[in-house]
Amino acid sequence: MKKTIVIYYSNNGSNRFLAHKIADRLQCDIEEIRPRLNIHLFLLFGLSLGNRSMKSDLVNYERIILCGPIWMGRFISPLKDFVIRYKEKIKELVFVTCCASSFKMKDEKFGHAHVFKKVQEIAENCVHCEAMPITLVVPEDKREDAQVVMNTRLNEANFNGEILQIFDGFIKKMSA
Ligand SMILES: Cc1cc2nc3c(=O)[nH]c(=O)nc-3n(C[C@H](O)[C@H](O)[C@H](O)COP(=O)(O)O)c2cc1C
Repeated sequence: MKKTIVIYYSNNGSNRFLAHKIADRLQCDIEEIRPRLNIHLFLLFGLSLGNRSMKSDLVNYERIILCGPIWMGRFISPLKDFVIRYKEKIKELVFVTCCASSFKMKDEKFGHAHVFKKVQEIAENCVHCEAMPITLVVPEDKREDAQVVMNTRLNEANFNGEILQIFDGFIKKMSA
């Protein structure tokens, strides 16, 4: 397996949970992105003062798995600032998101497909993007209920079924 580190940003915990799951399964290093101004409302509108420096020396890794949410159909500033700042050191990038847009909605205005395109524009060495929509852990009859979807967080109790299958497939890909 390529020497890997998981780098993540999370506001409400789902991507933190996912990032730790990935690092546990791959038995690799992990570090959190710490925005200098970690105020959700500011970050939501792209108002960023950049991130604090990473403690890990990224040049030591063959692959970086970047994990974080999608807001308003955008590649959010903590993640974008990370990629731009460390571009020269990133040998290979993989982007993973626990987002709200389902596979069915991926090409809509707030769908994850637009963000994947953006990541690949910014980081030419982005070799793979993977979505693990939170909707997969919401009961089927509630998946259209935006309130329920937005209030759901990934956790040990709900990390099973379809999302776990996608996760296992992703781990297999990353282990090859
Ligand atoms: C203000 C806001 C805007 C969001 N916009 C989108 C979006 O455009 N597309 C999407 O797929 N998910 C969207 N989401 C859902 C988040 O990506 C999802 O809840 C994610 O799991 C949150 O990650 P976190 O718990 O690690 O912070 C949005 C969430 C918030 C709070």
